[in-house]
Amino acid sequence: MLEARVARTREGHPQHTALLGEWAIGKTTLLMYWRRRLEEASDRVVLTMAYPQSRDDFLASLTGAVAAETAGGWASKVDLEVGLDVGLAEARLRKPVREVKKELRAALRRAARAGDRHTLVVMVDDVDLVATPGDALLQLRAIALELYAVDIGIAFVVSASPGLFGSIRGAHEPLVRFFEPITLGPLRAPAARDAITKPLTGTEVTFNDDVVAEIVELSGGRPYYLQKLAYFAFDGAERGRVGRAEFAAAFERAFASVSQEIFAARWSAMAPAERQVVSVVASATVARPSGEIEGDARRLGIAPAATRQALRRLAARGHVDRLANGNRGRYAVNDRLFRRYLELQACEL
Ligand SMILES: Nc1ncnc2c1ncn2[C@@H]1O[C@H](COP(=O)(O)OP(=O)(O)O)[C@@H](O)[C@H]1O
Ligand SMILES: [Mg+2]
Repeated sequence: MLEARVARTREGHPQHTALLGEWAIGKTTLLMYWRRRLEEASDRVVLTMAYPQSRDDFLASLTGAVAAETAGGWASKVDLEVGLDVGLAEARLRKPVREVKKELRAALRRAARAGDRHTLVVMVDDVDLVATPGDALLQLRAIALELYAVDIGIAFVVSASPGLFGSIRGAHEPLVRFFEPITLGPLRAPAARDAITKPLTGTEVTFNDDVVAEIVELSGGRPYYLQKLAYFAFDGAERGRVGRAEFAAAFERAFASVSQEIFAARWSAMAPAERQVVSVVASATVARPSGEIEGDARRLGIAPAATRQALRRLAARGHVDRLANGNRGRYAVNDRLFRRYLELQACEL
């Protein structure tokens, strides 16, 4: 899809992309992969990471990154990769908005021209870290349209969590049309199996087939879980093999590690009503309509309106999955490890 869009950009019809996906699903990895592919095809690529910063600081640091790419310095590129954003120092000088915008436009024009017949692809990773991502995207859109009017085609690729467009109220429609979303989901089973077994070739360790299948199943194809589960399984191998018994112990260690690294923070950031509601959702193994969840929550003393609000928030943050079916959503916690964590928490509620 991205290559088709870049091809359209080359033909003079720029197409822009929002790559959406949960934390640790593989957005940064995919952007880096795309960058390599595009550079091999002689396109110019600028890849930057957004930070928690104001819109204008973001635009200024993007200007710095674009300018560094045009300068072509290998050293400056390495700096960007390790996160020493060259634009950041300049950004602190706080220029007026019009100035910041003008400078970014000029830098993009120079970068696009420097690449004569080739295309300029500008990637911004984690754009939703910017304080007002909607404003930042509107500025990028305005600049792209202005440059397009003078025949300079640039393709923007921004990455963000799935809630990006939901959090942008006013400018929602034009932005979704402009940054056409591509959603990155978990790995499919065969790819997840490869992600476990390929790294094992060349080691002295093998996992039994049923262990591989169980890791695939438990992970739901999420790379972070695959890594954790496989890492502890590898670590617990007995005489070069991981079978049921070894994996059972490894699972507990992997689960403890994931709980500590992400679930605990997720849980502590939830409001009391959200904790009750997410536990109600997690207590069922099938997706249930909002009405049923409201009924259960009411017995715990939570009013239906509060339950609906909690469900919306939990879904927006990716803690529960909402399966849309027309207007009526059904809710579940599909993440097996998180569901187990919630079951354990529920005992303490
Ligand atoms: N296609 C893939 N197959 C296996 N592992 C992957 C894949 N994509 C990403 N990963 C691994 O998943 C982890 C998270 O990826 P990352 O790109 O940092 O996610 P994000 O940017 O969405 O938070 C990394 O350790 C990465 O190596
Ligand atoms: Mg990332």
